Amino acid sequence: MRRPFIAGNWKMHTDRVSAIALAEGVADQSASLAHVDLAICPPYVYLDAVARAIAGSKVAVGAQNMYHEAAGAYTGEVSAAMLLDVGCKYVILGHSERRHILGETDAAVNRKVHAAHQAGLAPIVCVGEVLAEREAGKTLQVIRAQFEGSLAGLSDDQMAKTVIAYEPVWAIGTGKVATPEQAQEVHADLRKIIAGQYNAQVAESVRIQYGGSVKPENAAELLGQPDIDGALVGGASLKADSFLGIVAGVKA
Ligand code: PGA
Repeated sequence: MRRPFIAGNWKMHTDRVSAIALAEGVADQSASLAHVDLAICPPYVYLDAVARAIAGSKVAVGAQNMYHEAAGAYTGEVSAAMLLDVGCKYVILGHSERRHILGETDAAVNRKVHAAHQAGLAPIVCVGEVLAEREAGKTLQVIRAQFEGSLAGLSDDQMAKTVIAYEPVWAIGTGKVATPEQAQEVHADLRKIIAGQYNAQVAESVRIQYGGSVKPENAAELLGQPDIDGALVGGASLKADSFLGIVAGVKA
């Protein structure tokens, strides 16, 4: 059985005071939620303060990015070891904003995925098509290429510990959510791709989150799909009530 996993991607939002307040708000209200894994992913500069503020709670902390090298002259970059050092358990890699705004390639994401696993961080690897690709009937092709490029060369164990987030780019921050059927179709395709490249047992273990305009109002229906194991939440993770409203959509 895959444990449902809801993660909040705060992107470039919050400040020191509001980040700690939001983290505490989520942690305080989540103590009784034994059936679901939770993580929040604040900006780098607040990771340490947030991790301290919610230490001992059931809410894990994740980063939104990292660099693949362990240390060295890489001005402005942050390593997996540094993220672990400040209390991170997860790291989001290959988010569409990094791919499309910052020019991150599948090869770069792949190097980061390997570095994260070597350090003991669990990567949340994002894949997703843009609207033109969906309209051209290329969704599966795009997802397969991103999977093969970003997740090449992992051991069975590393793949099983990797979280995938299917985030159709046209649904991120737009209010346009994929229908549960559209999302389920891609999640099932992804699981077939994993089974083909690894094996059925690994495919059954990998948690695949949906992301893109998830809100309390649409969460239960999305999370009720057989291959949707959780959500990666942007905008709606910036208020404790709406984030936890999404978590409430997970069947206990
Ligand atoms: P959204 O963002 O929930 O604001 O659409 C999701 C994401 O980018 O992870």
